[in-house]
Amino acid sequence: MTQPDPGQSDPGLPARLAALDLISTALARRGGLDEALSHPAFAKLPPQDRGFARALAMATLRRLGGIDRALDGRMQKPPPQAVRELLRIGVAQLWALDVPDFAAVSTTVKLAERDGSTRPFKGLINAVLRGVARDGAPGIAADAWLPSWIFARWAAAFGEETARAVAATVPQEPPTDLTLRDPAEAERWAQALEAEVLPGGSLRVRRKGDLAEWPGFAEGAWWVQDAAAAVPARLLDVKPVQTALDLCAAPGGKTLQLAAAGAEVVALDRSPNRLKRLNENFARIGLKVEALAADAEAWEDARTFDAVLLDAPCTSTGTFRRNPDVLWGTKPADIAKLADVQHRLLDAAAERVKPGGRLVYCVCSLEREEGEAQIIAFLRRRPDFTTEPCAPGEAGAPEDAVTREGWLRILPSEWPDRGGLDGFFAARLVRKG
Ligand SMILES: C[S@@+](CC[C@H](N)C(=O)[O-])C[C@H]1O[C@@H](n2cnc3c(N)ncnc32)[C@H](O)[C@@H]1O
Repeated sequence: MTQPDPGQSDPGLPARLAALDLISTALARRGGLDEALSHPAFAKLPPQDRGFARALAMATLRRLGGIDRALDGRMQKPPPQAVRELLRIGVAQLWALDVPDFAAVSTTVKLAERDGSTRPFKGLINAVLRGVARDGAPGIAADAWLPSWIFARWAAAFGEETARAVAATVPQEPPTDLTLRDPAEAERWAQALEAEVLPGGSLRVRRKGDLAEWPGFAEGAWWVQDAAAAVPARLLDVKPVQTALDLCAAPGGKTLQLAAAGAEVVALDRSPNRLKRLNENFARIGLKVEALAADAEAWEDARTFDAVLLDAPCTSTGTFRRNPDVLWGTKPADIAKLADVQHRLLDAAAERVKPGGRLVYCVCSLEREEGEAQIIAFLRRRPDFTTEPCAPGEAGAPEDAVTREGWLRILPSEWPDRGGLDGFFAARLVRKG
């Protein structure tokens, strides 16, 4: 089991009620957690309650499958849903937050007292949570950490053993990775931040707390970006004076990499709000970009580019380490819907590539429909494109992430001794000259 989140003192019932709301919205639909976190009702909470509610919701979602498996082993029949929801946050506090056991149990019982439907189960809740507190975190089979339909998909796609290895990473808290504006300064910032320099030059930081107070933040020396997310832009290997287009750019982690490498970058995103974040990030880092709010499919502009990046909208199932809600909010139908969008965006991206230019397609999804299958179908539609294979270890990707076709399939189970990395698919294509 992972270490407790530090610094989460115990603020009481309103924060726990807010956590219950966050969790139920996260489970209801894709993107629900982000919506709930930016909802005015949540923003109105006192900062301490907000912080605790968010930490409790994240801790619960990150361990949801294991919590349910443990609860089912302790009860003779499934409890009503409202009781299960209370038990889940009780167990998450016992397993993962720095809340005294008695407080985790007594506040959950108090929450049960508030409602006629849960009041009769006070005794059960008390007994189950005391049992969990006494016994600690049991060994839980790896597959329990994933919804069963996702485990079945990943076992079919990557093999049962790999699916188990991926599943075992679900309850782990990920470290924070940073990308440097100037990769030549890796050693200097690694020392200042007590960080590890990863193969592609990203820094892996173990410290917690307010990023804005970390060395280098104010100077714009780095931005937060998972080590796997930093790989696709590096595959374009842009040089100063080359032109680059990032079609789905916001909040701009990959766009910043292209600009930092010296390219003249145009960044498109159809969400003005997200584009605002991209502009703020560029302002802090001190780099230039032409940022445009536009739909990549309908963008009317005659320019073509040396390098085009399409980091397409996707189910994001590879990012469960940072966004555990993706596992539970994503529904099977979302995959087909997003695959359709990716197909259209790939066609739009192809039109923007100069003859001889490169196109990198990537998604932070572990679903083959959004990765390999997109490229197989694209290369059939567009014989004027071909794969430029990735070399093992290129761009900082784990050595064995290269597929037979020369694409990258990065799995969260890689680098287990270093703390893993997000799941990504990336393919580098060239438009024939
Ligand atoms: C995976 S995120 C991009 C993350 C970004 N590349 C980064 O590294 O920070 C996908 C982005 O695509 C944008 N998007 C979705 N459909 C789009 C479209 N048709 N045209 C332009 N942007 C789109 C979304 O608003 C979202 O910001």
